[in-house]
Amino acid sequence: MPTPSIKGYPRRYESRLTLKNGEEVFLRPILPTDGPLLLDLFNRMSPQSVRMRFLRRMNALPEDMIRRFTHIDYSSEFALVAIIREDEKEAILAVGRYAHDPDENLTELAVAVRDDRQHLCLGKPLLAKVVDIAKEHGISRFMGMMDPRNHVIRRILSDLGYDVKYYWESGFFRLEIVA
Ligand SMILES: CC(C)(COP(=O)(O)OP(=O)(O)OC[C@H]1O[C@@H](n2cnc3c(N)ncnc32)[C@H](O)[C@@H]1OP(=O)(O)O)[C@@H](O)C(=O)NCCC(=O)NCCS
Repeated sequence: MPTPSIKGYPRRYESRLTLKNGEEVFLRPILPTDGPLLLDLFNRMSPQSVRMRFLRRMNALPEDMIRRFTHIDYSSEFALVAIIREDEKEAILAVGRYAHDPDENLTELAVAVRDDRQHLCLGKPLLAKVVDIAKEHGISRFMGMMDPRNHVIRRILSDLGYDVKYYWESGFFRLEIVA
């Protein structure tokens, strides 16, 4: 799956990963042209997964969010996507991202896997890779908001050996993660 040459695109983060079902996925940094694939991923996520990712019900992924997610500097903001070929075109199966907010001095961490590919050991390695890339850029402290029912992400963070503190805040957990 050749990637176009886009200024600043860090090709060195491209890799391959074999899922528990034997399927091989291509991991690469997100591209500014990935908007339609990201929208397709969103549209194929269950309402439950969307809620776990965005902590609210969302019927559509707004244009400005798609732009923000796909137009990144690959340093203070980064996203890795997992790609397969499906129906003779590319599809994004998962996204892991971090985004540093200099005003708040916080780096948000998030991951989402398409429902039909969950539990196949994609989310955990994707998150670990994104965290490793952040560390290369001098970022090792993260924050995230978590639905209290999200035991899967809780287990993943613990399995990865990160130091995680949970603070109860208006019905959610605010996480402080040191990797
Ligand atoms: C959370 C999420 C990213 C995990 O991705 P995934 O690809 O399904 O996770 P993995 O297959 O890598 O699972 C990692 C571990 O959790 C365990 N696990 C996965 N799903 C599980 C489930 N439903 N119940 C219990 N354990 C589960 C697996 O056993 C695995 O452990 P192992 O490595 O020892 O086998 C995915 O479920 C998702 O997209 N959820 C919706 C969005 C979300 O919650 N994002 C996180 C907040 S930003």
